[in-house]
Amino acid sequence: MDVVEAKGFKIPIVGLGTWAVRDPARIVEQAIRIGYRHIDTAQMYGNEAEVGQGVRASGVPRADVMVTTKVQPTLLAPHDLERSVKESLAKLRLDVIDLLLIHWPNPRVPLSESLGAMSKMKRDGHVRAIGVSNFTVALLDEANKVSPEPVVCNQIECHPFLNQDKVIAACKSNGMAVVAYSPIARGGASGHATLERIAKVHGKTAAQVSLRYLVQQGIVVIPRSSRLERLEENFAVLDFALTEAEMQAIYGLAHGSGRIVDWTWSPKWD
Ligand SMILES: NC(=O)c1ccc[n+]([C@@H]2O[C@H](COP(=O)([O-])OP(=O)(O)OC[C@H]3O[C@@H](n4cnc5c(N)ncnc54)[C@H](OP(=O)(O)O)[C@@H]3O)[C@@H](O)[C@H]2O)c1
Repeated sequence: MDVVEAKGFKIPIVGLGTWAVRDPARIVEQAIRIGYRHIDTAQMYGNEAEVGQGVRASGVPRADVMVTTKVQPTLLAPHDLERSVKESLAKLRLDVIDLLLIHWPNPRVPLSESLGAMSKMKRDGHVRAIGVSNFTVALLDEANKVSPEPVVCNQIECHPFLNQDKVIAACKSNGMAVVAYSPIARGGASGHATLERIAKVHGKTAAQVSLRYLVQQGIVVIPRSSRLERLEENFAVLDFALTEAEMQAIYGLAHGSGRIVDWTWSPKWD
């Protein structure tokens, strides 16, 4: 399995998203059997117990599977964070969380405090690496300045219909990996004329071309599916390459309203 390395931490380049997955324990188990070695969950998804169950049921050694979970934005104050991460570990029934992310920034809690608490969880052996999600360029710079431990990735919405050049460049300059969520635009890659045309040339599907476009740039992808045949399809993106002209054609698909997940979403902090 290809990996992306950031600050000494290795992230398998094709992972499995689990938000809203039907029967997550079964899907996670099947995905790991297919070869996935990176599973993405979050406190907010309410499925950490099933995800942990799937990891154990796969029979693959625990050390070979990277599990990410995310702290919900209302629990970023140090005391809440520490308690919630211990709860995540209990739900997952795993010895350690491989990668712990801030799910969304919370302007009410100083980043130095959240990242300080996450760093302590790492030093205490509960977590192997820490990172962030949905961070802007300015927040990334701040995170990297104030965090006691290395911040290894930023998980962001990323697919052919959205231009993320600025935040990707900021990740690169901070030595961080980019993890793409909604990498097939929640299924929107399928049926798109340009992606379908390129897919035909390679004997692949438009969803696979969307994933390949990201992977070929060194971006980690975490597509989600509740269907076995699509788990296999989404995993099979490392055995072909897009030409420079194809990469450019896909790059040109991004447009102003390409975002799927509402960036202005903000939880009720109180
Ligand atoms: N950090 C964050 O704030 C954040 C936000 C959003 C998502 N995420 C993470 O990123 C993961 C992936 O993003 P996502 O779930 O939003 O979207 P996605 O992976 O881009 O798309 C999932 C959708 O596409 C369909 N699909 C899957 N494979 C397909 C294929 N080969 N061809 C056609 N359709 C296909 C799935 O349906 P079926 O299930 O029926 O196959 C599902 O409806 C999430 O599950 C979650 O773990 C993180």
